[in-house]
Amino acid sequence: MKAIGLYKYLPIEDKNSLQDLEIAKPEVSGHNLLVEVKAISVNPVDTKIRAPKDKIESEAKILGWDASGIVVAKGSEAEHYSVADKVYYAGDITRPGSNSEFQIIDERIVGNKPESLSFAEAAALPLTSITAWEALFDRLAISQQGDDAEKSILIIGGAGGVGSIAIQLASKIAKLNVIATASRDESRDWCLKLGANSIINHRNALDGELGLLNIPHVDYILCLNNTDHHWPAMAEAIKPQGKICSIVEATTVDLGLLKSKSAAFVWEFMFTRPMYQTPDMIEQQQLLNTIADLVDKGELVTTVSKTIQPINAENLRKAHALIEQGNTIGKIVLADWNLYK
Ligand SMILES: NC(=O)c1ccc[n+]([C@@H]2O[C@H](COP(=O)([O-])OP(=O)(O)OC[C@H]3O[C@@H](n4cnc5c(N)ncnc54)[C@H](OP(=O)(O)O)[C@@H]3O)[C@@H](O)[C@H]2O)c1
Repeated sequence: MKAIGLYKYLPIEDKNSLQDLEIAKPEVSGHNLLVEVKAISVNPVDTKIRAPKDKIESEAKILGWDASGIVVAKGSEAEHYSVADKVYYAGDITRPGSNSEFQIIDERIVGNKPESLSFAEAAALPLTSITAWEALFDRLAISQQGDDAEKSILIIGGAGGVGSIAIQLASKIAKLNVIATASRDESRDWCLKLGANSIINHRNALDGELGLLNIPHVDYILCLNNTDHHWPAMAEAIKPQGKICSIVEATTVDLGLLKSKSAAFVWEFMFTRPMYQTPDMIEQQQLLNTIADLVDKGELVTTVSKTIQPINAENLRKAHALIEQGNTIGKIVLADWNLYK
């Protein structure tokens, strides 16, 4: 089967940083499905793992943790899906990724593809939707029924992949007052279109920006970019007894800044459930199915902003280069292995 992979960790300008490969089609067993991959999306986790280092792989390393496709075979213990079902999923960071024509995936972390979306539109959603959903509803414990409707949330990094779905969930499902950050006209307009109530600029001091809105303190903060840099401002902006969630690694977070406010800090890492095979890992299947229903009802929209065809190493290198610039709006998707099949 076709795949895109690497043996060496090289700058994205190097043609060998991501290569077109022919590798063996994997065998399916247990709880797994074999999925024919139709579209993939690219996330910063791909570029972080691919970042230049001295390590050399003896077998091709396949990246990519976001896909949509069709089930073509299933293991003996797989009981939730049938051959020919259309699915979407993010996957498991401890396994080969979705940058291959066929992929083995545990059915407990697979959802039914939204029927109203194309494969490309659907591939934009799984990783970021799982992240945003778990952050808002599992980690910050915000009500999905609108019981927190009087409360406010600051979403730092609103126009990126995760922010684009988090804004929708926070405004349309949780009914919160959503303040998103964006630094450019395009990213600002994108956040407003997705449902943010107000925008502040993350290039300026956040306390000054919040002051201009007359909202000096917020009930929740979801940090989707540069946790170390934004930490003092988050500690200042959070209300007493408020909650902060970050999805981005940090080295200098001083929890002492939250003590007098009895404020809480919690991490979200969307690979935790599959990585540790937690007893509740099937929650990811359920939340992907809920997201699909909400999309099909018109309550959520896909976050794809750019689709590149076909899926090959040259185009994947283009997508990685764009993600590395750090100013993506929405999601970048690659679709179709062969345009002329
Ligand atoms: N823990 C997890 O499970 C998990 C899951 C997904 C992603 N992540 C991580 O979360 C981060 C965001 O992922 P993503 O897919 O949303 O990334 P992304 O799409 O690449 O984010 C791009 C956005 O970041 C904004 N941005 C740039 N510099 C910023 C700053 N200093 N402060 C605030 N926003 C800034 C940009 O807005 P402007 O153009 O307006 O400046 C741009 O729209 C990445 O580090 C990723 O690895 C973690």
